[in-house]
Amino acid sequence: MSVNARSAAVTPRGILARKGGEPLVCLTAYTTPMARLVDRHCDIVLVGDSVGMVLHGLPDTLGVTLDMMILHGKAVRRGLERSLLVVDMPFGTYEETPEQAFRNASRLMAETGCGAVKIEGGQSMESTIRFLTRRGIPVMAHIGLTPQAVHMLGGYRVQGRGDDAAHILRDAEAVAQAGAFSVVLEKVPAALADRITAAITIPTIGIGASVNCDGQILVIDDMLGMFQDFQPKFVKRFARIGEIAKSAIADYAAAVRARQFPNETHVFTDAPAVEQGEP
Ligand code: KIV
Repeated sequence: MSVNARSAAVTPRGILARKGGEPLVCLTAYTTPMARLVDRHCDIVLVGDSVGMVLHGLPDTLGVTLDMMILHGKAVRRGLERSLLVVDMPFGTYEETPEQAFRNASRLMAETGCGAVKIEGGQSMESTIRFLTRRGIPVMAHIGLTPQAVHMLGGYRVQGRGDDAAHILRDAEAVAQAGAFSVVLEKVPAALADRITAAITIPTIGIGASVNCDGQILVIDDMLGMFQDFQPKFVKRFARIGEIAKSAIADYAAAVRARQFPNETHVFTDAPAVEQGEP
C-alpha cells in the first residue's frame, strides 16, 4: 500500500489482518506536534511509558504514572487522524488482578480516546489479557526484554538466549491465545524472533529483534538522534536532530549576546498591523 492510499483509520482488527503482509510501521510519540508528523507514515503510534525517560528525565519507566500516560495520550490523540493509538499501561496499574487492569485500562481508553493498550508480560499476563479482550479492550502484548521488570532481569539485557528461548516462545503463544492483537518482541535474538513470527497467528512488532518481524517499532527520539550519548545497538539514527538543535541554540545565544537578534524584520513599528504580517 502506498503512503497516499493510507486514509482509513487503522484498527486492532486491521492490524491483525496484516499478519505476514506489508511490514507494520510503528513509532512512539508523546506530543501533539510529533503525532502530526508521524501520523501519515505509521500504522501504530504508541505512547510508550518510555515517555518517563525520554521527556521527564526519569532513570527508568517505573516512576511513570497513569496520569502521565493519560496526559500524553490525550496530546497524541489530538495529532492523529488515521494511525492506531496505543497507550502503555504503566508499572503497578495492571499486574495485581485482571479487575485492576480493567479498571485502569478502561480509564486510559475513555480519557485518551486510544484504540488499544499495551501491557508487558507473557504467560504471567495471559489471564489478564483474556479478561481485558473479552471485555472490549484490545491489547498489544510486550515480551522479551520488558523494561518494567528491569530489576528482576538484571539490566536491559537480551532475553531468550539458549534455554530461555523456549520460555519466550511460550510467552508469545500465551499472549496470542489470550487474544492480544499483536505482540512487541524487544531485544530477543533474531533467529528466535523469526521462530516466533512463524509460530504465532498475530503480528510481531520487533525492536532489537529481526527484520522478518511483521512490523518494527522505535522510540521516536532515538531514531531522530535527539540523544548524542545514548545509542543502543538496535537503534538506527535516521537523523541527527540533537546536533542540529545544539548548533541552533548556540547560534541563538551568540546572536542575542551580539545584539544581532532581533533585527528589524522581527520587531514591530507603528505602521498598521496588516502591513506587518500580523493577523
Ligand atoms: O515504552 C516504549 O516506548 C515501548 C517501546 C519501546 C516498544 O514500550
